[in-house]
Amino acid sequence: MARHLITSAIPYINGIKHLGNLVGSQLPADLSARYLRARGHEVMFICATDEHGTPAELAAARAGKPVADYCAEMWDVQKRLSDGFRLSFDHFGRSSSARNHRLTQHFARRLGEAGLVAVVAERQVYSIEDERFLPDRYIEGTCPNCGYEKARGDQCENCTMQLTPAQLIAPRSAVSGSTLLELRETRHLHLRQSALRARLRAWITGQKGWPVLTTSIALKWLDDGDGLQDRGITRDLDWGVPAQFPGAPWEGMEGKVFYVWFDAPIEYIAATAEWADATGAPDAAWRRWWRLDEGAEDVRYTQFMGKDNVPFHTLSFPATIMGSDEPWKLVDYIKSFNYLTYDGGQFSTSQGRGVFMDQALEILPADYWRWWLLSHAPETSDSAFTWEGFQGGVNKDLADVLGNFVSRVTKFCRSKFGEEVPAGGAPGAPEASLCAALDARLAAYQAHMEAIEVRKAAAELRAIWVLGNEYLQEAAPWSTVKADPDRAAMQVRMGLNLIRLYAVLSRPFVPDAAETILRALGCEDWSWPEGATAALEALRPGHAFTTPDVLFRKITDDERAEWAVRFAGAR
Ligand code: MF3
Ligand code: ZN
Repeated sequence: MARHLITSAIPYINGIKHLGNLVGSQLPADLSARYLRARGHEVMFICATDEHGTPAELAAARAGKPVADYCAEMWDVQKRLSDGFRLSFDHFGRSSSARNHRLTQHFARRLGEAGLVAVVAERQVYSIEDERFLPDRYIEGTCPNCGYEKARGDQCENCTMQLTPAQLIAPRSAVSGSTLLELRETRHLHLRQSALRARLRAWITGQKGWPVLTTSIALKWLDDGDGLQDRGITRDLDWGVPAQFPGAPWEGMEGKVFYVWFDAPIEYIAATAEWADATGAPDAAWRRWWRLDEGAEDVRYTQFMGKDNVPFHTLSFPATIMGSDEPWKLVDYIKSFNYLTYDGGQFSTSQGRGVFMDQALEILPADYWRWWLLSHAPETSDSAFTWEGFQGGVNKDLADVLGNFVSRVTKFCRSKFGEEVPAGGAPGAPEASLCAALDARLAAYQAHMEAIEVRKAAAELRAIWVLGNEYLQEAAPWSTVKADPDRAAMQVRMGLNLIRLYAVLSRPFVPDAAETILRALGCEDWSWPEGATAALEALRPGHAFTTPDVLFRKITDDERAEWAVRFAGAR
């Protein structure tokens, strides 16, 4: 038994996430957490909302709400949806928590004391009427490239050109619309990341078994990208972690907060502390996951994220940790994902294109989405969501293969032997070869799960379901029963035990269906199989069960057509 710390990239607070976001970090992280728990490991699975930064402030302003209220409401919404998808976080925190404020300031102070923070004077746009400095995104004007009148100071949404505020024609404040803007001198904190280049390089190149994708992204940013430039870690916003605080090794940062990407990853640690607070556990309970000097030496830490997040997790966050010169746990393995496309294009939050978490649960139960998304996770390349593909995957894998097996076996048993496990004779050669095949596939399934090869694991699980169907087809208890009822009884007993085995193995993918199955079987034995032969003896003759309702229904062509129209855009 080992201890596994698992974090999922923390979703931005503004808005409900789409299925592409879900499959890019939270869902595969949940799969892994559930699998490791099932294997008897101690798991700490952490996620949170990413609440600071301009997008949160702007979204709150659009909603006409104070940003703190807006974030609290959206946290509730996201929490409810993650429960709906059965994401089994040990804690779903908030980056705006008091814990994160304290910890972020702690890291900043340590970095400052190590000489890694510089105070840099800059000229920045100041709005006289708003009485504040404006971040780039808070300045609007006409795009010099395409003439779009609502271009932002960082980018034109219309032509996608990257901009600086100085390039905008007729710039105005996005807060008030005021055009009384001027350049004023102000001071910001810069993190001297470049001073950590050698240590970061040694750490990255010392990683064994990281995917080439991860290492190459990291080294590219380390050497020639902008990734390791000294960068500003403060912003002129009200909402965030204040950059001026008692004991800070600098002055004059009043009115400024830390940049969202500085405090967000620290929330992984802070959320674990929030977990301890919520469960009434002492500090030692969370520190043993994070402090090498307090028990975290034997923790294996895996992070899940979309590939655009990789530089922040291979460079910036490790720089924060290393620069603190304290023994905090660094990540051991990063699992990153490509993108899920929607019907030949992109999921788009701004255009409401694609399926969002709330809508998904309105039309189908979580398991249907979990299965399809995980079995098509964008691991080695982008993967495509289409309604045909989704309908086909759900109907074939879940309804025809797993669901049908469960229903055939239980219904046949009920009609011939009643709702209890029949006795029958001893297993023979066909059962022995079934067990051999199961053992081989089980070993492969476990290996893929341990390597976090999500699609391969799903394919192996599906193959395990198929083995049961093939066995049933060949054994044909409905014919055997006439000439050799004893043998038919044994075959049905095998079938019922296969159902239990499937519930145990499938639970990380389809937890609700797995629980429905075990409840119907009147069984609470979730123990992971040591081997197929023993696992197929778990339900003893005479054990009572109830025949479950249809586990998975099929998606009809009409539904598919209706949904394709409904989710095409303009939510
Ligand atoms: N909110 C970011 C995103 O959705 C992810 C932040 S991950 C963390 O892309 F490292 F900052 F925590
Ligand atoms: Zn433009």
